[in-house]
Amino acid sequence: MVKKGKLSSGKTRKKIIVGNWKMYITDKRQAKEIFGKIKRKMLKVEMVKTVICPPVSFLGSLSLAAKGNLFLGSQDVFFENQGSFVGENGPEMVKSAGASFVIIGHSERRARGDSDEVVSRKIAVALSFDLTPVICVGEKERDDAGKYLSFLETQIRESLSKVSGRFLGKLIIAYEPVWTIGRPFKDAMKPAEFEETALFIRKILSDLYKNEDVLSVPVLYGGSVSSINAGELLKEGKADGFLVGRESVSPTHFGEIVEIVEKS
Ligand code: PGA
Repeated sequence: MVKKGKLSSGKTRKKIIVGNWKMYITDKRQAKEIFGKIKRKMLKVEMVKTVICPPVSFLGSLSLAAKGNLFLGSQDVFFENQGSFVGENGPEMVKSAGASFVIIGHSERRARGDSDEVVSRKIAVALSFDLTPVICVGEKERDDAGKYLSFLETQIRESLSKVSGRFLGKLIIAYEPVWTIGRPFKDAMKPAEFEETALFIRKILSDLYKNEDVLSVPVLYGGSVSSINAGELLKEGKADGFLVGRESVSPTHFGEIVEIVEKS
């Protein structure tokens, strides 16, 4: 496994929390109410950037409220910008609806057919429209022989195959081991496991780009994040932030996570 030291990010910068609302909220009024509460919380927050990713159909009605350290993101984007693609949302569409970030390669989309090739095209198109991609990677399971490491390496190399080094400053990696998503909060990844894997991810980036800028790519943790585990994942695991699912639609619980990160 990779040695600590050179490859740790080490720099002080704002942490990032991405809230992935999935399809939990189906009513616009409720979406506005939750977003309003999160916004009030964010007014007092200085050291955390929060990106809320609602269902794409609600982006427009929340966009005016996204200010300061509160941003909007899309949960996905199509890899073409325009044309006869029924039901898709291209980069210009999500951007003009208010998104400045986009989650790409979430395991729930990969499970429904997004291959590494598709993910790489989505990342490339997002970058070309100046959207910040939050690139999800993560193994489905762990094995003692360490096969998950080569799985992860292939996933990262192929997902980033169309990204040139000049975009490194725009990338966010969300490491979400699939086996920790949607679990009881006590089953989130252990901080030491996260730290070790984040170093492995940085090592892959460093081999790929041979560029010091890889140190500034935030590596977030995702998978059953809550106020119960956020503190230790930041402190001991040295996470650069989180991708939060279920807890992001509870303004109170999400606010607690934001507070923990703000104070870290
Ligand atoms: P969870 O979801 O926080 O509910 O586990 C995380 C995710 O799927 O991004």
